[in-house]
Amino acid sequence: MPKPILEIHGSLDAFLDAAARLIVDRISRAIRSQGRCRLALTGGRTPIGIHRRILRPDLAGQVAWDRVEVYFGDERCVPPDHLDSNYRMARETLLDHLPIPPEQVHRMKGELEPADAARLYDAELGGDPLDVVLLGMGGDGHVASLFPETDELVHPPARVISTISPLGPRDRVTLSLDLINQSGCVLLLVEGARKAARMAEVLAEVHADRPRLPAARVRPPMGELRYLVDEEAATHIAPEIRRALCAAPGPAPGEENIDVK
Ligand code: 6PG
Repeated sequence: MPKPILEIHGSLDAFLDAAARLIVDRISRAIRSQGRCRLALTGGRTPIGIHRRILRPDLAGQVAWDRVEVYFGDERCVPPDHLDSNYRMARETLLDHLPIPPEQVHRMKGELEPADAARLYDAELGGDPLDVVLLGMGGDGHVASLFPETDELVHPPARVISTISPLGPRDRVTLSLDLINQSGCVLLLVEGARKAARMAEVLAEVHADRPRLPAARVRPPMGELRYLVDEEAATHIAPEIRRALCAAPGPAPGEENIDVK
């Protein structure tokens, strides 16, 4: 199982730039090796700044977008034009600005009954694993719409499930942990001081190999796993964990903010 890598970036800007570059690189790598990339986008607000940077010509120009199949990690059960829709966010901030054939954008149909939407999406996904999965992390340590202390975490190996969010909006459809962990590359993208304590807790669980929180249970046995965080989200990560997980020794809190790859 490849070792997970932690990248700590010294500012929000550096984090957003690094995330955009890494995503473009991993998409291009999948296209080079397989002729296409099956990419799953994340919801929430973190990706907005990253999407904006992906659209910059020097990055967007690197990808054969007609080879990209776009999926979603999760969706709120609202119509596609609803302000809470992850699809609407992705469409407005990224997909409408890229030459991806519409039939290659696979929306979770949040307007349907959650169980029906999950079943339809399972069929739409097809049998191949996803190549690149983007994830954010909630302040409670959730990823996609997989929330702590819920049986969905130990759900029988279903690929797409409906869940109930303790936060709004309530009803969700989400890729299962099983499916996420079958991916070729998972990038966990976390920024902001409000997530620092939970990020440290997640990485401590990973380091101790005692994963409890959903974000700690993301561990593709055959795939790449990278945590990209900005310095604000990294402040509580223990020095020994920085050293163990960063490709190079990580900066201890208070040390100079450097990009650790
Ligand atoms: C969702 C997301 C969710 C998100 C985290 C982080 O539908 O809300 O998929 O998993 O990634 O809650 O959200 P922020 O990026 O807004 O902090």
